[in-house]
Amino acid sequence: MGKKINIAIDGYSSSGKSSLARSISKEFKMKYIDTGAMYRSITYLLLKNSIDSSNFEESEKKIEQIINDCNIEYNYNNKKNISETILNGARCDEHIRKNYVSEFVSIVSKSKKVRDFMIAKQKEIASNKNIVMDGRDIGTVVIPDAEIKFFIEADLHVRAKRRFEQAQDESLTFNEVVENLKFRDNQDMMRENSPLKKAKDSIVLNNTNINFEELKNQAFNIIRKKNENHN
Ligand code: DC
Repeated sequence: MGKKINIAIDGYSSSGKSSLARSISKEFKMKYIDTGAMYRSITYLLLKNSIDSSNFEESEKKIEQIINDCNIEYNYNNKKNISETILNGARCDEHIRKNYVSEFVSIVSKSKKVRDFMIAKQKEIASNKNIVMDGRDIGTVVIPDAEIKFFIEADLHVRAKRRFEQAQDESLTFNEVVENLKFRDNQDMMRENSPLKKAKDSIVLNNTNINFEELKNQAFNIIRKKNENHN
């Protein structure tokens, strides 16, 4: 790649954003930042500090202190092709995809305090360029000047099937996954602070009826074209 660009990927939960971001990172040698993992790790940290959906609203001061005191680092392990989240010195990736975190994360990510903290971190990372970052507000708020913005869509039941197959909680039923996705879509779209929405200049890729290989090819072709014009 010649001149360095940033790529923002937004979309619904389990729409295929992270898989696409990982493939782009590998193919174009860009650094992948999974912002969902960032919100999940903060959620996990709050749960560890006895803050949950029952006391979240009244714990504002404590939340602020936990955020200010915590040290979160995000690395992308190119060899293993996975992102690694290090929370106060310890890897926490095995915990952050558990259902108890998934159920609480969209409540946590509504908080302005949490978002301001995360967005500042994400903007700083993106300022180094050559980043592919996925989330909900990347093209609209975090990197509004990204050279390429993708918005990924897929039918709810197609997404639920994927999430169900990847779920680490064996006790989880398919209907519970559908309900959790519906709940999270709703929270993501309706929240006051940086809600999930399409950036005006985003390219919509819908993968309800195409497989991942086709989705990847569509995205790669757009990136190659952009790079030709950008150099
Ligand atoms: O992509 P994911 O499912 O791992 O994201 C976890 C949660 O984090 C999701 O419910 C919405 C929230 N999130 C967000 O609000 N903003 C982002 N940029 C990324 C994720």
